[in-house]
Amino acid sequence: MANQRKTVLITGGCGFLGSHLAETHLKDGYQVICVDNFSTSTQSNASFLNSLGTDKLVIVEADVIEPWSTWADSLPEGWLEDLSHVYHFASPASPPLYQLLALETMWVNTIGLSNALSFADKFGARVVFASTSEIYGDAEVSPQTEDYKGNVNTLGPRSCYDEAKRFGESLLFTHNWKKNTKHGMVRIFNTYGPRMNPADGRVVINFLVQALQGGPLTIYGDGSQTRSFCYVDDLIRGIRTYAASKFCEPINIGNPSEFTILGLVQEVEKLFAPAVFERSFHPFPQDDPRQRRPDITRARTQLSWEPRVPLADGLSRMLDWLKTQPLS
Ligand SMILES: NC(=O)c1ccc[n+]([C@@H]2O[C@H](COP(=O)([O-])OP(=O)(O)OC[C@H]3O[C@@H](n4cnc5c(N)ncnc54)[C@H](O)[C@@H]3O)[C@@H](O)[C@H]2O)c1
Repeated sequence: MANQRKTVLITGGCGFLGSHLAETHLKDGYQVICVDNFSTSTQSNASFLNSLGTDKLVIVEADVIEPWSTWADSLPEGWLEDLSHVYHFASPASPPLYQLLALETMWVNTIGLSNALSFADKFGARVVFASTSEIYGDAEVSPQTEDYKGNVNTLGPRSCYDEAKRFGESLLFTHNWKKNTKHGMVRIFNTYGPRMNPADGRVVINFLVQALQGGPLTIYGDGSQTRSFCYVDDLIRGIRTYAASKFCEPINIGNPSEFTILGLVQEVEKLFAPAVFERSFHPFPQDDPRQRRPDITRARTQLSWEPRVPLADGLSRMLDWLKTQPLS
């Protein structure tokens, strides 16, 4: 049975979420193969994983768009025969980075995913694809259920990410349909926590870095747009529960507590009290969603999963970690 096997392969395994998936699997005694091209991460998460001092970790530096045979043959003997899951998490994830690497983002979520599916099939393993709340686009309904089909612009600056993820979902669905496989996908909502790249550009890490540097805090639009923020430990627990299930349909994994961006500023300021930071307002980016909140009924009922870490606690844990990091 696949779930008794003890090897997992994580594409993007040295990124933010990938490194947490790797860490928890290593703690549970798995052999872990991280494949990463370090296009949006630094070596710091790889160093962290190496510092765990285990012989059950292999980090492969490779682009998953290229054929996997170039490195697969050199993995430790017997590991792939024991392959349980391929977590396809490689992809730029923040708007500044996926816009910089727009074509690469499209290929990694399509060709890269296709490679992951073929590779997993060879070993009878299950793929879990990191999809995203961005497939809902600038949603006209809130909260977003998995049945909502989205409001996405095929041509805007976010389309390279949103539409590549949508194609990825279609590819995985069609692969299951035509090849009778049982791969799955999770729709991840904004997640934050230790080991995010400080230069990544997403709002939580941006605010914390800017606050540590004395401000100002960059706000796009008037700050009334909403987001929901999931602490990474909650997310990883949800993803692993999904991976262990037989679900093939997408499931929203995220925290349904909704905050405006100005509300997030206040939460950050509480950590630095009595400091108050200057706000620096910038134009609202094209096609940025105004409202983002998951309906997690499916995760609650089908996976018995829900987030546990309140935003204030998660921010405080993330700040403790960030204070140990070099900031440029
Ligand atoms: N963190 C979130 O809030 C969030 C939300 C929705 C979806 N996701 C998805 O989760 C996944 C991981 O996101 P993250 O936040 O950890 O981002 P990240 O940028 O920290 O990690 C992505 C990793 O993938 C690697 N990578 C990118 N292209 C690659 C390629 N072609 N070959 C090999 N490695 C490659 C990068 O170097 C990086 O280490 C992504 O697929 C992202 O779209 C994340």
